[in-house]
Amino acid sequence: MNAAIRAVVRACIYYEKEVVGIYNGYGGLITGDFKNLGARSVANIIQLGGTILKSARSEKFKTPEGQQQAYDNIIQDGIDALVAIGGDGTFTGAAEFGKKFKISIIGIPGTIDNDLYGTDNTIGFDTATNTAVNAIDMIRDTALSHNRLFFIEVMGRDAGFIAIRSGIAGGAAATIIPEEEMSTQQLIQKLKQGATNKKTSSLVVVAEGGKSGSAMEIAEQINKDFPDYETKVTILGHIQRGGRPSCYDRLLASRMGVGAVEGLLKGKKGTMVGIVNNEVVYTPLEDAITIEKNIDTEALRINKILSI
Ligand code: F6P
Repeated sequence: MNAAIRAVVRACIYYEKEVVGIYNGYGGLITGDFKNLGARSVANIIQLGGTILKSARSEKFKTPEGQQQAYDNIIQDGIDALVAIGGDGTFTGAAEFGKKFKISIIGIPGTIDNDLYGTDNTIGFDTATNTAVNAIDMIRDTALSHNRLFFIEVMGRDAGFIAIRSGIAGGAAATIIPEEEMSTQQLIQKLKQGATNKKTSSLVVVAEGGKSGSAMEIAEQINKDFPDYETKVTILGHIQRGGRPSCYDRLLASRMGVGAVEGLLKGKKGTMVGIVNNEVVYTPLEDAITIEKNIDTEALRINKILSI
């Protein structure tokens, strides 16, 4: 997100527009937590995880009073366009607010989940999956040395993008994602097949939010019905949301930040900037959050062929 903030600020300066940072998300819009930003305010942040502007979920912004207060602050400060960086929740708020008050808003997709329609990748997804794959590599050492079966839970809310990508790149024996049913019996079948093929250890990547339950619940069930391996569970959690952004994410965020400012200048209000097939595109915010982004069927196919 910092690389995106930097790009928005510098693109505004390039196009001779003033730029104000809003702190703490929509909460800051309500309290008027604004600060003018210049080129040097965003120096030395491209390599930092998180966001210098901070972030917060705001219940008040969902109320008519909160929205009115936010609008009053915007008018008082002479702000005529907003750039909202975030995911599903951020864009739901942005779409409603933009419509109600006729404000120009453009969204930049910043979420590790990659679950937004209208862009091939969201900012943070590449870094998060690299972190997950590094962790899986490290866990593999113990799995191999001790002949264990590991269940590794990755984030993604209710989408399996992080799981499928880290499952393939981490060489998982199975990947369980919300978009595809896999029963305990099917999983046991897969693991038994591996054991027959002389596998002495296995890694199973589990997306949080799946219908089969958490990694802990799946592991308990497998342990009961298939006690052949010693079973362990690792939940990767918030390590996936922090740390130095990858080169890919910095480039994506830089391109999207410039794309957001240029989009506003071209009148693309109420849209999300995205990159599809290496082209900058603008998708209505409602579509970005309501149209389901499908898991790449080629990734699913490759995963099936390789996880034997
Ligand atoms: O949407 C990003 C995400 O990291 C999800 O992958 C995860 O389910 C959720 O946020 C965690 O949210 P919190 O930090 O509020 O627990």
